[in-house]
Order: sequence, then structure tokens, then C-alpha cells
Amino acid sequence: MKGRSEQFREVIEGSARVLVSTGAITKRMEAFYNPIMEFNRSVTILFLNSVPQERLIVGLPMAATGVRGIRILKEVKKRVMVHFNDKSEIATKIIKRNLKLNKLSAGFTVSNLDASIFMLGSKGFSYLDIDPFGTPSPFLDSAVRRVSRQGYLGVTATDTAPLAGTYPKACLRNYWAMPVRNEFMHETGLRILIRKVQLIASQFDKALEPVFSYYRDHYYRVFFRARKSKSAADGLLKQHGWLAGCRRCLRRYHSITPAPSKCECGAKLNYAGPLWLGKLWDTSFVERMLKHADSNTKQFLSTIYEESKVNAIGFYTLGMIGKVLKLSELPKKHKLIEKLNKAGYKASPTHFSPEGVAIRGNPQLKPLLL
Ligand SMILES: C[S@@+](CC[C@H](N)C(=O)[O-])C[C@H]1O[C@@H](n2cnc3c(N)ncnc32)[C@H](O)[C@@H]1O
Ligand SMILES: [Zn+2]
Repeated sequence: MKGRSEQFREVIEGSARVLVSTGAITKRMEAFYNPIMEFNRSVTILFLNSVPQERLIVGLPMAATGVRGIRILKEVKKRVMVHFNDKSEIATKIIKRNLKLNKLSAGFTVSNLDASIFMLGSKGFSYLDIDPFGTPSPFLDSAVRRVSRQGYLGVTATDTAPLAGTYPKACLRNYWAMPVRNEFMHETGLRILIRKVQLIASQFDKALEPVFSYYRDHYYRVFFRARKSKSAADGLLKQHGWLAGCRRCLRRYHSITPAPSKCECGAKLNYAGPLWLGKLWDTSFVERMLKHADSNTKQFLSTIYEESKVNAIGFYTLGMIGKVLKLSELPKKHKLIEKLNKAGYKASPTHFSPEGVAIRGNPQLKPLLL
């Protein structure tokens, strides 16, 4: 890196100080750093501080500047060993420099391998973090094999266009599912991603259950709890199915087969799937995370906590409700939620969209709003 120092700048994130490449945020950065992903990293810290294990062996196959791992070493209040890896040689040099900059001299290794080779050559990890450019699909096989029996797997996907239906062919190739472009497309995208990870894991008799997942800033993020169990894997596969929302009357349909093909109102239904129809969160886990949350993460965590208690499939937007019911004025979100809860439904805001409402079951909206 001699003579290159002018291409790097120092940033502070959480309790880490790191050198990162200057200039535009592109894949070609030598030390890739995306400030928008600070939130993703902060949630990872919250997550790791909320798992019951007191000792963690962490694998970061795509570590870039090392910021995530340095934050884990400094902010996770447990005995932690972090294995950093990146296929870019410059990245691994920067990681070593950044570790020194943070006065860290033990509790880590740094390697310069392809991510899959790094994972397969290891003895396994209690937490593995897959954080690629775009789709995580090529790395899932090695990741699910090396996540330990009671371990956790964090997966980021930034290819939201295929998952949310802009490129259905790319979604079919990478995720073996059909997406749909509609008002709740980011929920279907997240559910399609979850199923793909579970399918890959089931080949190794592993059950990967989502404990915390979300969509934000054009990326999807899922944390899974792993279990080596044929019956648990079978149980998860039974929760794969199809999801449709009627654009004429707003009814939601979900089942393990795409049926019926027509809504009760007569309109044709467009199904997304197969996808994960189970829970996106473990409410008690979210509660623990919320206790560790700070001013940056608290609001988001609180929304997800409420949403996890409702546990709906296929949220509604105020815009679509207004359009379908031909309302002259859109209802206020909190008022609608209040009315729904009073009428005996379970409803809450959703983190998926600022104008979204999560409602359990198929609510009768007309009598509530007209
Ligand atoms: C999105 S960045 C990771 C960001 C980092 N985890 C963070 O939180 O700041 C993706 C990184 O993966 C690396 N990478 C891409 N393909 C890889 C592969 N096949 N094996 C290992 N590293 C890879 C790139 O060099 C880049 O540093
Ligand atoms: Zn309908």
C-alpha cells in the first residue's frame, strides 16, 4: 500500500476507527466501506449481544475494511474470536492496519481466500456473516455447512430488484421462486430469500429458523438460528408456500399450493413463491435486542417488536386501501390501527413501509372506513 495512503480516509463508526477508500462507493473500492450499512452492522452487534452464548467464534468471509469485525471485537460483551477474510489482498492489508489502529492485538485471524474456500477450510463458526455485493446465493452452500449446530447465520442480500420482482428471471435463477411486483413486494422478497437459505440448509439436515429479519435501505437482512435436525428441517419446509394479494378487493391468500387462481371477487390472482410463510421474527429475541438498542436502533426495533406480535403475512398500504375503497382521503395510519385493534383484529405499523399496516387475517376494511 506504499504510496497509496492518499486514497484512504479515516472514519469513526460505533467504537471503531477505520481507514476506508475515498471516492464513490463502488464495488471497485479497494477497501469497500458503505456508510449506509452502519445500521446493518449496529443491528449485528445488538443481535450478538442478545444470543445466549457467552463465547462466540465469528466468521467474516467478506470482511472488506474489517469494520464489522472490529466493532464485534470492541462492542460485543462476550468472549469473541473473529476470523476475518476477504479475497482482495488490499482489503486484508487494510484489515490488519485497521486492527492495529484500534489497538487490537489478539482474538482474531486474517486470511486472503475466496469466501467459500475460507468457510469450507474452517472448523465451523458459532456466527457466520454473509455480506456480499448483490446476491448471497453462491456462498450459501459453504455457509450452511460451516455454521455450527447451535450457531447463527446472518445473510445480507442487496439484489432487491430481482427479489422484489423487477427481474423475475434473475429471481428464478438465484432464488428458485417467482417474485411479484406489488405493494408488499419487499415482504415477499424477504420471504423468498429466507426459503432459499432454508432449502440449501435442509440438504445438510439443518433447520435454519429466522429469528430477526428486515428490509431497509434497499437491502434484505436475515439472522437465522441453526439446528441440526431432520425433523426440524422437515417442519420448516412445510411452511413454504405461495402468497397473493388481490388488487381489486385487497384479500390476501396464502397456502402451500397456489390456489385458488381467482379471488372471491372474481379477479385473477398473481402468486409470489414458493416462499417462507412462517414467522419473520422470534418475539422474545426481539425483546432482548430492544433492551440493548440505542437511539439509532430503538425506533426500528420497537416497530419490529410490535409487528412480530401481530405476525401478519402480506401487509397493506394506505395508498392501496384508499384506491380500492375509492376513499377521497387516505386514513391516518395510527387511527386505522386503533380502529382495527378495537374491532378485534391484530394490527400494527410495519417496518417494511412508512405507509404500511400489518394486519393478521383478512380484515373487513369497508365497514371500518366507509
Ligand atoms: C459488501 S463488501 C463487505 C462489507 C463488509 N462486510 C462490511 O460490513 O463493511 C463485499 C466484500 O466481499 C469481497 N468479496 C467479493 N467476492 C468475494 C469472494 N468470492 N470471496 C471473498 N471475498 C469476496 C469484496 O472484496 C468486498 O470487500
Ligand atoms: Zn379480490
